[in-house]
Amino acid sequence: AKIQEHEFVIQATPVKRLCNTHSTITVNGQFPGPTLEVNNGDTLVVKVTNKARYNVTIHWHGIRQMRTGWADGPEFVTQCPIRPGESYTYRFTIQGQEGTLWWHAHSSWLRATVYGALIIHPREGEAYPFTKPKRETPILLGEWWDANPIDVVRQATQTGAAPNISDAYTINGQPGDLYKCSSQGTTIVPIDSGETNLLRVINAALNQPLFFTVANHKLTVVGADASYLKPFTTNVIMLGPGQTTDVLIQGDQPPTRYYMAARAYQSAQNAPFDNTTTTAILEYKSAPCPAKGSSIKPVMPSLPAYNDTNTVTAFSKSFRSPRKVEVPAEIDDNLFFTIGLGLNNCPKNFNANQCQGPNGTRFTASMNNVSFVLPNNVSILQAHHLGVQGVFTTDFPTQPPVKFDYTGNVSRSLWQPVQGTKVTKLKFGSRVQIVLQDTSIVTPENHPIHLHGYDFYIVAEGFGNFDPNKDTSKFNLVDPPMRNTVAVPVNGWAVIRFVADNPGAWIMHCHLDVHIGWGLATVLLVDNGVGLLQSIEPPPEDLPLC
Ligand code: C2O
Repeated sequence: AKIQEHEFVIQATPVKRLCNTHSTITVNGQFPGPTLEVNNGDTLVVKVTNKARYNVTIHWHGIRQMRTGWADGPEFVTQCPIRPGESYTYRFTIQGQEGTLWWHAHSSWLRATVYGALIIHPREGEAYPFTKPKRETPILLGEWWDANPIDVVRQATQTGAAPNISDAYTINGQPGDLYKCSSQGTTIVPIDSGETNLLRVINAALNQPLFFTVANHKLTVVGADASYLKPFTTNVIMLGPGQTTDVLIQGDQPPTRYYMAARAYQSAQNAPFDNTTTTAILEYKSAPCPAKGSSIKPVMPSLPAYNDTNTVTAFSKSFRSPRKVEVPAEIDDNLFFTIGLGLNNCPKNFNANQCQGPNGTRFTASMNNVSFVLPNNVSILQAHHLGVQGVFTTDFPTQPPVKFDYTGNVSRSLWQPVQGTKVTKLKFGSRVQIVLQDTSIVTPENHPIHLHGYDFYIVAEGFGNFDPNKDTSKFNLVDPPMRNTVAVPVNGWAVIRFVADNPGAWIMHCHLDVHIGWGLATVLLVDNGVGLLQSIEPPPEDLPLC
């Protein structure tokens, strides 16, 4: 195994998109940021220097960070932000994970432009559990705002309204041919007749679950979130923000150009294939000369409708681990967390400008009716480590405070989230089950729930209200998929299981950034107890303090 050193400089860089040039926060002047490629077992050392005017942290999405919680990155959870002019070096080892992950800023909405792929190859000398592809291409799906994303979220926070939606979806930072002033930059993905290309698809969008497809080509899914899957074939995949999916495509079609495309699942609009669809071009290198290049119109794919939940359900039901896995059969901590939005009444000391949500309310979001508030003068991990009192409380409810029909309309008086920095303490080694239940309050939604520091098994998903008496029999305890982000079905639920074998403070949150800002998050504090195995490494000397 190697030690790989990298430098990330966070800086403002001019980036031209949708006809105009914007001052954009990037890493090393690149948008999207650099792709990191490592082998399983390697150690990554990344020195991040902040030359921008915002506080920033970097999170290594999906990396287990076994006992290296100080390198996880979410601001005020495992570290204070890196202030302008300062640096911090993240150091961690990849242990047992293979496939596609990514890294992104974990401060405010900076990850709109501060993100990149993190590719983990098998250990040196080891092979993929599928035929080695001739080419491999990261496909980063994203969202672009013409306005400064930090201003967009700031305005929403100040007014209590929903933030403006993005101006484009992107593939590898490019909106593609269907958007104005964009066809020059459209991403071109090469393939040869007869070859296999591994597409490492990452949903890096801030707020939007996305469908992805390639015209005329079957997608063979072989992995997700850096865990291998039992391969299956599909025409279309869906990824919630945060999720990754590895698919093989074969160069088995007439040699010409084909669009690959992504568009919204569960957006407000029901647009046809149009300029709310981002495209890249799959181009056969073997194509005869005039077939290559811009004179050939690529073949259009078809994509499911924006509300096609049946396609999403069929897709996620196909997920299986490649073989029988060890799912905890007995449970020590059985938790039930509701997830959803809410509307808080306008507080008395607020003026109307600060309450521009529906009917003069403010948007909020919560888990078990608690709207999570980050500390601002110390991180939770550090407070825990040093025994600083008064930063968080350990009374996060293990069950919702009120039970109701989660698929129906709930009166606002019943569900006024309370604000707090409440965490759940878990014993090291505990076998944990969490039922995640969409409340459908304000709107039913597919929430991508991401847990830091862990991979978990998704043992079941369903619609309606989770019923322990009848739904438990549907659990797959044999070969469920392992992931770090679960797209909880709209108007439904998902059940995850894992062993709390990684001490630290681990944020669990909706990966729609608009929901994090509204409080759809909590922290699992896995107590580091005593003994070598259970303790975490001491904080690095350059750990940013507040
Ligand atoms: Cu990909 Cu907490 O994030």
